[in-house]
Amino acid sequence: MSSGEFQLKPYLQERTQLVESALDRYLPKADTLPTRLHDSMRYSVFAGGKRIRPILMMAACEAVGGNPQQVLPAACAIEMIHSYSLIHDDLPAMDDDDFRRGQPTNHKVYGEATAILAGDGLLTEAFILLSSPDVWQSVPADARREVIHLLARSAGSRGMVGGQVVDMESEGQSIDLPTLEYIHTHKTGALILAAIESGAIIGGADDRQRRALCRYGEASGLAFQVADDILDIVADQEALGKDVGSDQERGKATYPALLGLDGARQRARELRELAFTALELFDDAARPLREIAGYIVDRSF
Ligand code: IPE
Ligand code: IPE
Ligand code: MG
Ligand code: MG
Ligand code: MG
Repeated sequence: MSSGEFQLKPYLQERTQLVESALDRYLPKADTLPTRLHDSMRYSVFAGGKRIRPILMMAACEAVGGNPQQVLPAACAIEMIHSYSLIHDDLPAMDDDDFRRGQPTNHKVYGEATAILAGDGLLTEAFILLSSPDVWQSVPADARREVIHLLARSAGSRGMVGGQVVDMESEGQSIDLPTLEYIHTHKTGALILAAIESGAIIGGADDRQRRALCRYGEASGLAFQVADDILDIVADQEALGKDVGSDQERGKATYPALLGLDGARQRARELRELAFTALELFDDAARPLREIAGYIVDRSF
């Protein structure tokens, strides 16, 4: 791919379609019993969504010369985990939000009990998929095991779930910058980093490439949540597809709350630079990753 030819928008559209058709193949069909539960799981997964984690996984795999098709099972698994985290994040016991991905939130449509169970179902489904040997094609057993471990750890209490807990505990509190960074690198950064590192592992990265991609993943994962905080203040609700202003309403610990809007924007730009620097050792195969780091910070939804 020559540098002149690459265009992010069609690339994201094409990759989104690839991920969505794989998700459709892998998820239980809506007519599988219990149908209401499977309908609810599919409702949230297919409501929309940028699919940034699966796309990053494919792009990291490509950056080290791998075939992005090989990551599809792991990419779909991470999107299932992410979708579960959104369903639970929106519950009345957590952020109590009514809109997600341009639609009413899962609990608004199916009720809280089904929404909780749909989240549980999606998390479990991710590991059913990851542990199905027939979907992995030619990925070596060691790489599979490492990816499964990485995804589990990043989703759990030392990763995303840990970040969510501190996010909840910090509501209405004044916290310091290291605590805020802990929240963001865990609730959001952990899965984004895991997506990128998994892509590197499946693509056969050497140690140096893997370390560089992890630096990229740390910077862009944190940048993603800083941008999410900013969008909660400045975005158009319809374009964003979820409630705006809900962070301030709930007294959430966010970058704009701690550093101001300009300070948060400045921090996002610094993180974008760190992400670009981490990619210096790669050739044009990392062009999508470079463009995505820019998009993460400059996006309007
Ligand atoms: C929203 O994630 C929640 C965060 C972790 C910031 P996304 O912004 O990736 O949401 P979708 O998947 O596009 O709906
Ligand atoms: C959520 O962070 C991170 C998750 C693990 C879901 P937010 O609570 O800021 O995400 P949004 O803004 O509701 O998407
Ligand atoms: Mg939240
Ligand atoms: Mg939320
Ligand atoms: Mg948010």
